[in-house]
Amino acid sequence: MKIAVVGSGYVGLVTGACLANLGHEVICVDKDKKRISSLKKAIVPFYEPGLPELVKKNQKAKRLSFSSDLSFAVIASEVVFIAVGTPPKKDGEADVSAVRAVAEGIALAMMKKDGFKVIVNKSTVPVGMGDIVTKILLEEGVDDELFSVVSNPEFLREGSAISDFMHPDRIVIGASNNRAFNLITELYRPLNAHIIFTSVKSAELIKYASNSFLATKISFINEIANICEKVGSDVTEVAYGMGLDKRIGGQFLNPGLGYGGSCFPKDVSALIHLAKKSGYEPKILNAAGAVNNNQINLFIKKIHKRLGNLKNKKIAVLGLAFKPETDDLRDAPSLKVVAALKKAKAKVAVYDPVSKLSEFTNPYDAVKGVEAIVFATEWNEFRELDFERVKKLAPNAIVFDGRNIYDKKRMAEVGIEYYGVGR
Ligand code: UDX
Repeated sequence: MKIAVVGSGYVGLVTGACLANLGHEVICVDKDKKRISSLKKAIVPFYEPGLPELVKKNQKAKRLSFSSDLSFAVIASEVVFIAVGTPPKKDGEADVSAVRAVAEGIALAMMKKDGFKVIVNKSTVPVGMGDIVTKILLEEGVDDELFSVVSNPEFLREGSAISDFMHPDRIVIGASNNRAFNLITELYRPLNAHIIFTSVKSAELIKYASNSFLATKISFINEIANICEKVGSDVTEVAYGMGLDKRIGGQFLNPGLGYGGSCFPKDVSALIHLAKKSGYEPKILNAAGAVNNNQINLFIKKIHKRLGNLKNKKIAVLGLAFKPETDDLRDAPSLKVVAALKKAKAKVAVYDPVSKLSEFTNPYDAVKGVEAIVFATEWNEFRELDFERVKKLAPNAIVFDGRNIYDKKRMAEVGIEYYGVGR
């Protein structure tokens, strides 16, 4: 099929490259001409394992191309994906102005040339956005026989986005008629995935509800970790024992500094805003956000309690990205830890294997002469650090492990004082 994907960020570029890899002919669109020109050279402006190779391969096969001309791409396509950002406004509401602007552009393009098209909202949008996109097209004069708007939310995790696309647990298609549903089902047929057909509004809410549930699950285990510290249980053992219950499952039960990234914080606040605006006060969602925000404070308090006044104390923070296998710093808990330590006038040395904000090229240079080492992101390269070498570089360093990479026993073996989360 001929497909246009509007928005060449994490979601749009992964979607476009993967659909091309399935054999479709894809034009990825972005209004940022600089981004388009680097993409034409298969230069991907963010870190996502495997994506540059996938882009290059499909460009060479002439299945994937890039353009900043929205009209051209829409007119050439049967299916148009909207995959632009919906960042949070100050009050938490999703800012859908980019989605609206793209819908206007699509409408103008469709007025130039007839032909039935399916417009697919891939972006995470508030319930009801499908109706708004439909209204925009009708108001521009597009014949309602010539288009259908579908909601097809993505469930891609940064760092594993390509495999998440190629092996989805489910594909959610929210459509108002069979024709649109069948066309999008056909588009995904090569994936042999479990496809569900829902209303547009249910598909829109499935996305928010899924992300908010995962975020709530993380805040739940963080709450249990905080209780463990008071009563002397070990949250790692507790989480393991809980996770063996198939109804609970062991994933997303890792306590620590809490969740960050460009999705969970914004999706939880957007769902809270949507609920309130619709006349319902979401108590669990509010609590999930509050527990998450408090995790950082509890962690900083732990450092203050042990080290006392942090003024001029050298502290290394290992890990900046909001999670491993990405360079994304959006809402990264690590940045809040660094800010709090600097506010307490500590001298902070930061290292991250991928992020450009890293001040060192390896963790050992970062820990030289420090009094404390903070693990803020569970990068694999931190799992096998040479602690004999660390001890030589920082003889009295105390480890504050924000992601429970290590444990007390392992640190006692190398003679290092250790504080984890919920241990
Ligand atoms: C998430 C959803 O997983 C994905 O389905 C959706 O499409 C986009 O949002 P992402 O934000 O890329 O993906 O990362 P994810 O792996 O979900 O982690 C989100 C945050 O939760 C990270 O800050 C991570 O450190 C934290 N986390 C995750 C925990 O604190 N504990 C866990 O057990 C799991």
